[in-house]
Amino acid sequence: MLESRNLVDVRSLWVSYRKPKWGGLRSSEIYVLKDITFQVGYGEVYGIVGASGSGKTTLLKSILGLVKPRKGKVFIGGKDIYSSSDAYKEVMSKIGYVSQDPYSSMDPRMKIGDIVGEPLRILKAPSATIAKYVEKVLELVHLSTSVIDKYPYQLSGGMLQRVAIARALILKPQLILLDEPTSFLDVVTQAEILAILKELRDITGCSYIIVSHDLSVVAYLSTKIAVLLRGYIVEEGAVNQVLYRPLHPYTQLLVESSKYIKSIEPEFSDVGCPMHKSCPWASSICEQEMPKVSMVNGAKVRCWKYSGGVQS
Ligand SMILES: Nc1ncnc2c1ncn2[C@@H]1O[C@H](COP(=O)(O)OP(=O)(O)OP(=O)(O)O)[C@@H](O)[C@H]1O
Ligand SMILES: [Mg+2]
Repeated sequence: MLESRNLVDVRSLWVSYRKPKWGGLRSSEIYVLKDITFQVGYGEVYGIVGASGSGKTTLLKSILGLVKPRKGKVFIGGKDIYSSSDAYKEVMSKIGYVSQDPYSSMDPRMKIGDIVGEPLRILKAPSATIAKYVEKVLELVHLSTSVIDKYPYQLSGGMLQRVAIARALILKPQLILLDEPTSFLDVVTQAEILAILKELRDITGCSYIIVSHDLSVVAYLSTKIAVLLRGYIVEEGAVNQVLYRPLHPYTQLLVESSKYIKSIEPEFSDVGCPMHKSCPWASSICEQEMPKVSMVNGAKVRCWKYSGGVQS
C-alpha cells in the first residue's frame, strides 16, 4: 500500500439512490450522503453517530466500494479505490467489515470454522494455514475452538458477533468497518463485545470506523466522533469536545436528551439545514441553505450560528 498521512481520506462524497415513482416509469434521485469529507489516521478509531436512515450503512458501503458515489473520492492508504479494479482489490484485502446483521451475513449451512476461514480460502491459502489462522482469531475474540464445528444457529447473538469480528480479522486488516456492532445485543453482551473491540485495537493497532445510533457506544471506542444528520456530517471533533462542549444544536440535543438518538425525533426538513424547524437559533438563511463547514476551537461544525448567518 502507498504510504500517506491518513489511512482513510474521504473527499466531498455525494451518494444517491433512485426512488421509483408510483404510476410512472420515471424515478427520482434521492441524495442520502451529502458532501461528506473526513479523514481517519493510522490506528485511529473514528466514530459516526446518527439516527436510523441518516446514511451510516451507505457511508460504510461506499468506503467498501459496494455503493458507487455520484461525486467525490475515497482514498485508502493513498489509493483512490474507484480508480481501477487492481487498486480496488489491493485495498479491499486490507479492510475487514462487520455488517449490521451477523445472521444474514453468514451462510446457515456453513460451519463456523469455514465461515471464519472463508476470506483465506478465497485467496486459495493452504488448509493447514487456514486452520491455524482460524484458531488464532477465535482466540483473539475469546471463543473456544469447540465452535469450529458448530453451525450459526447453535450460537448466541454475542458469540455470533465474535465470529463476525474474527472473520473480519483473519486477513490482518489495517482497517475494520463496524456497522452497529452491538445494536441487537443485550446490555451485558454489548459491554463484552465493546471490551473485546477495544482490546483488539490495542493488540493489532488497526484503525476502526464504527457507526452506531448510540452515542455511548461510539464514545467508548472512538478517538474522534462525527455526527451524521440526514446525510450531512454536522459536527466532528474529539470525543470530549463532542460530549462536553457540543456545538451543533442537533449534537446538543443528542447529548442532552438521551443515550439513544432513536428516541429523539425533532421535525426535519429537506430544504436548507435539516434541523431548522426545531432549532432555537434558526433564522431565514437556515431555511434556505446548508452552511459550509466552519472550524471552532479545533472542531468542525456545519451551522449558520458559527458561519455568521445567525444573530446571537
Ligand atoms: N438500496 C437502497 N435503495 C434505495 N434507498 C436506500 C437503499 N439503501 C438505503 N436507502 C435509503 O437511504 C437512506 C440511508 O439508509 P442507510 O441504511 O444508509 O441508513 P442507516 O443510518 O444505516 O440506518 P439504520 O440506523 O436504520 O441502519 C434511508 O433513507 C434508506 O431508506
Ligand atoms: Mg444501517
